[in-house]
Amino acid sequence: MDQVKKEKYYFTTPIYYINARPHIGHAYTTVACDILSRYYRDIKGEKVFFLTGTDEYGQKVEQAAKEKGMSPKDHADAMVGNFKDLWKKLNIKNDAFIRTTDEGHKKVVQEILTQLKDKGEIEKRKYSGWYCVPDERFWTEKDLKDGNCPDCGRPVEHIEEENYFFLMSKYQQKLIDYIENKKDWEFIQPEMRKNEVLGFLKNNKLDDLCISRPKSRLSWGIELPFDSEYVTYVWFDALINYYSATKYINSDEKWWPATCHLIGKDILTTHSVYWSTMLMALDWELPEQIFAHGWWMMEEEKMSKSLGNVVDPLDLVEEFGVDAFRFYLFRNSMFGKDASFSYEGFKKTYETELANDLGNLLSRVLSMIQKYGVEYQKNYIDDELEDKSFKGSLDFIDNCYKELDFYNILERIWLHVKAANTDIEFNKPWVLAKEDPQKLAEFLSKSFYWIRIIAGFLYPFMPETSSRMRQQMGIFDLKTKDLLDPNIEISFDKINKGEPLFPKK
Ligand code: MSP
Repeated sequence: MDQVKKEKYYFTTPIYYINARPHIGHAYTTVACDILSRYYRDIKGEKVFFLTGTDEYGQKVEQAAKEKGMSPKDHADAMVGNFKDLWKKLNIKNDAFIRTTDEGHKKVVQEILTQLKDKGEIEKRKYSGWYCVPDERFWTEKDLKDGNCPDCGRPVEHIEEENYFFLMSKYQQKLIDYIENKKDWEFIQPEMRKNEVLGFLKNNKLDDLCISRPKSRLSWGIELPFDSEYVTYVWFDALINYYSATKYINSDEKWWPATCHLIGKDILTTHSVYWSTMLMALDWELPEQIFAHGWWMMEEEKMSKSLGNVVDPLDLVEEFGVDAFRFYLFRNSMFGKDASFSYEGFKKTYETELANDLGNLLSRVLSMIQKYGVEYQKNYIDDELEDKSFKGSLDFIDNCYKELDFYNILERIWLHVKAANTDIEFNKPWVLAKEDPQKLAEFLSKSFYWIRIIAGFLYPFMPETSSRMRQQMGIFDLKTKDLLDPNIEISFDKINKGEPLFPKK
């Protein structure tokens, strides 16, 4: 696929429902966005806007607040900290945090509603259908599965009322053509998900979308600007966050359209169908890409609050540290596919790959340099080593970033970690120390070169570890992007070998 050269990058996570405490599934998308942003911003020096936030309206929030005897806004204010605190703990460097209860967001949503109504894209109709309260979605009789919600299997209520509809159905063919013909940058990724959406659009008649809820049933939402008896359907308001943030939070540049919406596979339809047709109706640009990742599973079951099998990222961070957590997520999953969490697997990754492979490599190389008192010489790093090995990996990794193939980035980095360890066994520097000091200096210069490159490659995934490596190597004043500059001046004078990167548990 041809890739377009971009001048700026705008990445988004879904905005999370504030009701539940964040778990590993939420952390997965947010860390992925952080990795992408750190790569493009801090390593490539590009302009980046990374947005995350919370989805705060709707029936579930209203109900939860009522149970606690609080107003929905007070409840939201109390819950939003769970997300903000976790992102801080996980070293997430987002540029903005949007809350759908922000006044600025509300204003943009109402402007969009007015615009669509004026353009004749919204109509009031009598409606009767089946409503799933927990999912806040209407279904037709034929959609139901054994009389229950086809999505979550829970009972539905029969409801008859007047509502406002967005005339989504008329965009069906236009959307199919758009998905099929977009060439420079695939609209929906991975391929399997694109085919799923196309299959759905080609085999079903798209309905119009009910975008209002009467206040008599739900009052916790953004009021329709043209009818004060109604509030906006929560998904209609939530999707607009991706646009509204570029208007009232970060409006210094033209950030819209987004480079990539990172989402989980369960919210692909709302993004690829609802959001895209809303933008088509407005005559606005569509996001360049929507990437739907897989789920973290617990023994074959999706992790979810209702099943009570969620993994709390804080427990893992507490025990193993933030970078081990960030690393585990992408070392043990393929971003587009489901992955299975296990505590044993986590421990194994920590011990073998982090403590042994990476931690020992750094510590061995630095101890030997200090012990033998050798000096770094740039001319030991021959062109062939740089051109073939380093530049090849740099290009490979850059391409993986374009495809959000985090797994293969780490796989490639680990090839270098392992090769550097094997080289030590093979070259036996402790023998060279006695027999050939010149060769020893050459060997340790090359080893040092590789740990610097590894620290650079690892930075987006493990920023703290990368910085600790830099500290111990005595190159802490080096800018992140210079870690990957092979021609930088190096000296061994400031090496300061410290605590193990990943202490044995
Ligand atoms: N509020 C909506 C999104 C609106 S975006 C305009 C929402 N929120 S959510 O909190 O329920 O879910 C947010 C994301 O978490 C979704 O992308 C979902 O796929 C993801 N995950 C929830 N459980 C997950 C796993 N077990 N594994 C991976 N991701 C999962 O939906």
